Amino acid sequence: MTENIDRTTINGAGGLEHTLSSDLYTDPASLERERTALFFRTWQYAGHVSQLENTGDYFTFDILGQKLFMIRDGDGEIRCFHNVCKHRAHEMVAGSGSVKLLVCPYHAWTYELDGRLRRAPNQKKVVGFEPSSICLSGVRIENFCGFLFVNLDRDAEPMDVWYPNVREELSAFVPQVGDLKPVLVNEVEERCNWKVAVENYSECYHCALCHPTFVKGVVDPECYNIMPQGYCLRHTTRAANLDRLTYEIDPDANAHATDYSSWFLWPTFSFQVYPGNVLNSYWWKPESVDRTTMYRGWHTVGGVHSDVIAGLAQQDLDTTVAEDITLVESVQRGLSSVGYDRGTLIIDPDFGVNSEHSIRALRDWALEALAHQK
Ligand code: FES
Ligand SMILES: [Fe+2]
Repeated sequence: MTENIDRTTINGAGGLEHTLSSDLYTDPASLERERTALFFRTWQYAGHVSQLENTGDYFTFDILGQKLFMIRDGDGEIRCFHNVCKHRAHEMVAGSGSVKLLVCPYHAWTYELDGRLRRAPNQKKVVGFEPSSICLSGVRIENFCGFLFVNLDRDAEPMDVWYPNVREELSAFVPQVGDLKPVLVNEVEERCNWKVAVENYSECYHCALCHPTFVKGVVDPECYNIMPQGYCLRHTTRAANLDRLTYEIDPDANAHATDYSSWFLWPTFSFQVYPGNVLNSYWWKPESVDRTTMYRGWHTVGGVHSDVIAGLAQQDLDTTVAEDITLVESVQRGLSSVGYDRGTLIIDPDFGVNSEHSIRALRDWALEALAHQK
């Protein structure tokens, strides 16, 4: 069944639209295929620019087993490299920190902060050895409003092509975005496939039933809509009655002070703005075919603690996040049932909160990625 990903298999009689087949969420071979066909070809969140304030600051991260690190070089440029020495493949750095030069811990090959090899011990004895011809392997990087993304595909289109207008919209909705730093990141283990988590995030057909606090205290579910915008799913709605908001805002602070919006960037990151220009983020990391870590980031100007943000983050963990975990873990168990193969989507031609056209978009993007597999 895993190889059966032809688009023609997803449309049933009468033009009904269906979900992906369940084995794409449960078969370990599916994640292995997505690893190269999808995750190594799409933009992945790595960290925030504030983690690299000074020359030589670095942090490590990984994309489905590929070890990478990001570093600020002597010219102030942020670079990303595969975390592997060009000699005999020892890892160059661990964790995070700050260095003057990149010195491999195995035989002390020494690289400049821009990745060029400066010297190798005893190199003079090797005829024809040219340090200048050796460089750590670099990776494509983009600074997206202070959020650093990488793409292992050298030929990938820039993020502004993948996610049209998002940079401008985010800057308008969060005028202070350039001064933000992460103040809090909550990490949540979910026993489900990453696509189950992302699909759950990307529709609000379940909101009225399953998220009472969110729909009463944060947003107005009646005008909630989710529309594709390139490979972005743009969520829009109004704030709930401002007097029912669970925290105080200044509605006149700027043009978007009372708005809610979110931009899900396929495949695993989302910017979310709550009324009051409160920026928070989601990103998901697949750990195995049926286990995902969800990160929930909150950001304030200068990374300064805020009781309002701390309260909002806790409310979010206790309500929306807790409610969603129950849902996605139940779905994952259901996907393993031999009594289920695939489901029918509710596609409303007028879109709106009770339509799953966004799930159709996610399905098509996943199939498109898998079809590219070499
Ligand atoms: S593996 Fe890096 S110096 Fe030998
Ligand atoms: Fe939800």
